[in-house]
Amino acid sequence: MIEIKNVSKSYVKGKKSVDSLNLEIKDGEIFGFLGPNGAGKTTTIRMITGILNIDEGDILIDGKSIKSEPLEAKRNFGFVPDSPDMFLKLKGIEYLMFMADVYDIPQEKRKEKIEELTKKFEIYEELNNQIQSYSHGMRQKIVICGALLSEPKNWILDEPMTGLDPKSSYDLKEMMKKHAKSGKAVFFSTHILEVAEKLCDRVGIIHKGKLVFVGTFDEMKQRFKEETSLEKLFLEITEKED
Ligand SMILES: Nc1ncnc2c1ncn2[C@@H]1O[C@H](COP(=O)(O)OP(=O)(O)OP(=O)(O)O)[C@@H](O)[C@H]1O
Ligand SMILES: [Mg+2]
Repeated sequence: MIEIKNVSKSYVKGKKSVDSLNLEIKDGEIFGFLGPNGAGKTTTIRMITGILNIDEGDILIDGKSIKSEPLEAKRNFGFVPDSPDMFLKLKGIEYLMFMADVYDIPQEKRKEKIEELTKKFEIYEELNNQIQSYSHGMRQKIVICGALLSEPKNWILDEPMTGLDPKSSYDLKEMMKKHAKSGKAVFFSTHILEVAEKLCDRVGIIHKGKLVFVGTFDEMKQRFKEETSLEKLFLEITEKED
């Protein structure tokens, strides 16, 4: 469970990139975070994961505050950032071993898990090559494998489908469903409305730092009856606040 409590963040004084955000991602649900470019999705995700400091408010991950109990909070999630271009000098296997060390995964278990995940995403054969030789999609896949290695309870993913081929995208979505079905939480941002509609139990829409909608797609359609397509619905919601 992820609880975002009255959270605000400004990069420059007087301009809130995230403004008094309240949101709860429950166990057992897939929650989609939508919003136009620059709306505040990545900023929110960086605060949840402790990469960015929170100006006001607090965020709890399974009851642990990312502000006051950062180590405990960080053990409770796996994170896939929006840009997979990290650790380029490392070989795939070195990166995964590093992640396994961070999360203290026993030797036998890590071997089994690395094999399972990298075979699923078809990068097992690439593990002895440096990440800088990987394509964008392959980098995305190795980061996903690294994030899921420790079998974290809460998944936090920033535009995870970007760059993935259809099969990997399908596999990831199936994994997200399975994860939620087992009673755990998935929080991800996306621009693909069709994916969100099919996959998410609930969505939140952020616009200029403020949450302008939270609920199911059915509730969204109920509220904006006159709109026929998802795209129009989304435009209506995010233009209204201008
Ligand atoms: N490092 C930074 N320094 C200054 N301003 C920033 C920084 N990062 C983001 N911002 C600003 O904060 C706001 C929110 O940006 P954010 O990256 O959270 O948007 P986003 O919803 O993730 O957008 P996208 O869909 O393009 O990924 C934008 O106005 C952006 O210009
Ligand atoms: Mg972003």
